[in-house]
Amino acid sequence: MNVLSIVSEVYPLIKTGGLADVAGALPKALRLHGIDVLTLVPGYPQVLEHLPNRARVGDLDDLLGHRAVVSRAETGGLDVLVLEVPELYQRGGGPYIGPDGRDHPDNWLRFAVLSLAGARIALGHLAPGKADVVHVHDWQTALTPVYLRYAFRSPLPVMCTIHNLAFQGQFSYDIAPWLGLPPAALGFECLEYYGGVGYLKAGLLCSDIVTTVSPTYAREILSPDLGMGLDGVLQQRRSALYGIVNGIDAEIWSPGADPLIPRRYDARSLVRRRENRAALLERFGLPDANGPLFAALTRLTWQKGADLLSEAAEEIVSHGGQLVVCGQGDPDVEAALLDCAGRFPDRVGVHIGYAEELAHLIVSGCDVLMQPSRFEPCGLTQLYAMRYGAIPLVGRTGGLAETIIDANDAAMARGVATGFQFHPVDPHSFREAVRRTCEAFEDREAWTSLQRQAMKADFSWDRSAFQYAQLFEALQAARRVRGEEGELTYAMVDEPNSV
Ligand code: ADP
Ligand code: GLC
Repeated sequence: MNVLSIVSEVYPLIKTGGLADVAGALPKALRLHGIDVLTLVPGYPQVLEHLPNRARVGDLDDLLGHRAVVSRAETGGLDVLVLEVPELYQRGGGPYIGPDGRDHPDNWLRFAVLSLAGARIALGHLAPGKADVVHVHDWQTALTPVYLRYAFRSPLPVMCTIHNLAFQGQFSYDIAPWLGLPPAALGFECLEYYGGVGYLKAGLLCSDIVTTVSPTYAREILSPDLGMGLDGVLQQRRSALYGIVNGIDAEIWSPGADPLIPRRYDARSLVRRRENRAALLERFGLPDANGPLFAALTRLTWQKGADLLSEAAEEIVSHGGQLVVCGQGDPDVEAALLDCAGRFPDRVGVHIGYAEELAHLIVSGCDVLMQPSRFEPCGLTQLYAMRYGAIPLVGRTGGLAETIIDANDAAMARGVATGFQFHPVDPHSFREAVRRTCEAFEDREAWTSLQRQAMKADFSWDRSAFQYAQLFEALQAARRVRGEEGELTYAMVDEPNSV
């Protein structure tokens, strides 16, 4: 089966977060299930640089007034199509944000063009031929099913995966006439959203299956608390909504084979981690205080609870611990963390920025990896941490709630604990969780068992890829039937994680 995955970032070509990791790893895992994924990404400068030997497969004219060259390349087990529209994608900054830190002002057009090109490629307008199923991710590609249904009248099956409902692609209604969609698509039953347009909203309504990246988050987004205004739409699509937890790419994230860390190790040679710990402290210019070394590796945003880190740092320091932070984001949070490092020069180190190699050093060397997220669709960092024997300390929400077993007395006694959770996500509970973690760290034998248990947790893609494969196969095989309410539905096989 051929799946066309249309996505705004994919590792190792371009990455701002976990979306890229998932888009890069899932195709490799699906191949073992007989599914060939072709991945369409925009030709950002980083992508073009990475793929100097790409081969031109054809041109697409008339993409909302733009013209694209489409090229193809293989990289790291991925089969990639690059959409080259220099005036839209070849510019400074990142995929979504300019060098000035603000959203590119034409993001509505950049991602509408990506979505439209994806629809046309899926329909076979270019050499790779027709796709059997289309997979879109987040708001940036959510218009593909809208183009398929309304502009091309095509029933080609589409799966839309929500990686983060906080980003919805909302724009002024003024852009609606420029999207190349017929009037029927522009009303409230599709694109119109509270007086503006909503790309994700429209995509959720036009896709056959909607998935999100953990079963817990799938349930959470059905309520106003975490539905971010789309809970009503999601309730409407409830029968088509699935939660499939993310996996990790064990080829890239493996302490026994990681070329980016000073000393490789496994669960039986945990003592070797000390060298990585020493290298990590040295990297941040910190002496070894012999207490627990906490770390945070994250976008510094409200979602991630990054504003709570400075206060937690005080608690960590008061228990003899140390903290290193690598991240970027909200300027106020960055400033507060730098200030904190200034106040505790031997105890707190901060690196503002995105640093792939440092990310590997952190998970291989820190004792505790903190994610005080206020909501978390899945989260990958805690999965990497566990695999590297760093103990996660997380807010109990979304994917964090279900991927970690809290080290309460019962779980510790049964030897099943893998980390520490706290709830609610507020400064008081966070401090309390830091205290509990520091106390646990003192019993070194119990701590080592906790590390070994965390390292045993299996978050490889095998199981989750199987669930995606089942849904893709169901989409391909099922005959569309008109349900009683006039909704398009599929006859599903062995439904995984239906909510
Ligand atoms: P999100 O996608 O919401 O940011 P995830 O936990 O799913 O959260 O994925 C984050 C990914 O980005 C992980 O691969 C993590 O290692 C990486 N990451 C986050 N911040 C940084 C950073 N400052 N430097 C390097 N990698 C980072
Ligand atoms: C989003 C979410 C994160 C998830 C990632 C990959 O960025 O915030 O929780 O792990 O997507 O699905």
